[in-house]
Amino acid sequence: MNKIAVIGSNMVDLITYIDRMPAQGETLEAPNFAMGCGGKGANQAVAAAKLGADVLMLSKVGDDMFADNTLVNFTRYGIDAQFVQRVPGVSSGVAPIFVQSDSHNSILIVKGANAHLKPADIDAAQAALRDCALIVLQLEIELETVYYAIEFAKANGIPVLLNPAPAVKGLSREHLSQLDFFIPNETELALITGQTVDSLESARAAALQLVQDGIRHVIVTLGEKGALYVGEEGEFRVEGIKVDARDTTGAGDAFIGCFARHWSEDGDMRNAMTRAVAYSACSVTGLGTQSSYPDAAAFAHFLDTL
Ligand code: RIB
Repeated sequence: MNKIAVIGSNMVDLITYIDRMPAQGETLEAPNFAMGCGGKGANQAVAAAKLGADVLMLSKVGDDMFADNTLVNFTRYGIDAQFVQRVPGVSSGVAPIFVQSDSHNSILIVKGANAHLKPADIDAAQAALRDCALIVLQLEIELETVYYAIEFAKANGIPVLLNPAPAVKGLSREHLSQLDFFIPNETELALITGQTVDSLESARAAALQLVQDGIRHVIVTLGEKGALYVGEEGEFRVEGIKVDARDTTGAGDAFIGCFARHWSEDGDMRNAMTRAVAYSACSVTGLGTQSSYPDAAAFAHFLDTL
């Protein structure tokens, strides 16, 4: 199995299930609460690992009770966490999340230790990174580290994937153009390109612009409508799968982790996307982020039911 490197965040998810958001000054009772391991980087690493991938994680935890839990969690899934280090005097990343009864969510993130993952940490892990078939990045760490990772990947001939979440404006065009994979959702695609994305056709046009700027493969995740590919392999869409959604938190990360696991195995784009769409759909039928990701056996069972 080819090794995947995830250079990114970890968070402790503090998930409150709500009937509605409180108004300013209002105190409101919520029916349920759950705490779990999250963070877009860690979620993607865990999704890939649960599906059998060999995963190397570069991340930072804080100097608090959450750190041990996160480290144990990586180990539980067989993720190589030798480059997940503690930062003294700093909190771990945390994410208060509010999930409404229609399954949709609002998320706040406090980066904490994640802001301390620096280019020097990539240098320190360079020998291990050179063994990887794919480097996976998101935007919950500092941009300078993301850009350095892209430069490192290009200099070493390692394919590099950026999931631009959470989206920020003004990403460096020079770095974006070096990406092998760019996987935004529609909102992120609109923010990053400055184009309106409100239909399949407008998503296609915005993705095509990025491909013309130099990105090899753009995949737009479309939620229950599936995913759209525009790039070196032409243009195609993978249809979505209808499920009874309970909690959509982390569905995008499930897509990325599953896609990375399958593409890095054999380079079959359509198969990796088809599986990623299904894996993401399966994840929204459960509660929480990593806790809702099926392992390979449970995912095979889900595919059999379709
Ligand atoms: O994508 C979902 C994730 O976003 C959550 O796990 C939360 O930690 C935030 O990073």
